[in-house]
Amino acid sequence: MLKVEGLQVFIKGIEILRNVSLEVEEGSVVCLLGRNGAGKTTTLKTIMGFYKPSKGKVEVDGADITFKPVHERTRHKIGYAPEDLKIFPWLTVEENIKLAANTAKRDYEEATKKILQTFPELEKLLGRKGYYLSGGEKRMVAIARALAQNPKYLLLDELLEGLAPRVAERLATSLKEIASKGVGVLVAESNVALAKMVTRQVYVIERGEIIYRGSIEDALKDHKVAPVLGLL
Ligand SMILES: Nc1ncnc2c1ncn2[C@@H]1O[C@H](COP(=O)(O)OP(=O)(O)OP(=O)(O)O)[C@@H](O)[C@H]1O
Ligand SMILES: [Mg+2]
Repeated sequence: MLKVEGLQVFIKGIEILRNVSLEVEEGSVVCLLGRNGAGKTTTLKTIMGFYKPSKGKVEVDGADITFKPVHERTRHKIGYAPEDLKIFPWLTVEENIKLAANTAKRDYEEATKKILQTFPELEKLLGRKGYYLSGGEKRMVAIARALAQNPKYLLLDELLEGLAPRVAERLATSLKEIASKGVGVLVAESNVALAKMVTRQVYVIERGEIIYRGSIEDALKDHKVAPVLGLL
């Protein structure tokens, strides 16, 4: 289990996360739902080690990794696809994936074989440069790159945002498939409809604090939570 407990994070002297606790089980998809500026990206980045919390901890399968350096997180089986994707535009899809596999000291051929099972459409794109990919293809490569590191937990930051509904559905199906193979997937989302495509299980974050944990349907019935979600 990936377990986050009572995170408090200050950025430039401002308290951005106040009290964030959440759990992601292997084989499940969990959504961190919240409006713009609520603290989703900061939460994921703290799990990845880009920010050091002043309170709280991050645990992976019982091991405390709160203060482990960023590059060690892949060793602790956490994969991450950031909001801005960070696909290298002048490298091919193959090279982008290779780089990630190498970073995790993983065999590229073996990693790619598994990735193509999830995203068969990437096969014909392997030689294409990142620059020439469509929005949906870029998201696919971002997920593929995280998968190349063979994570047990996968963190994805608003990867379904702005895609055509059909493409978003396609990616959502892949995420569920990835989870069904035993990976714990945490997706940050600001859009209820997109969140619903991947999971029912949500944590709602508002002003750096988790204000709700449960199903999306129940959240929409909760008189304190619904207004927050209504504005998403
Ligand atoms: N590096 C930073 N410097 C200053 N303020 C920051 C920094 N990073 C985040 N913040 C602030 O922290 C708050 C939470 O930001 P965060 O990016 O975590 O929100 P988010 O939920 O991911 O929002 P979005 O939906 O817009 O991506 C915001 O008010 C943001 O302005
Ligand atoms: Mg964000």
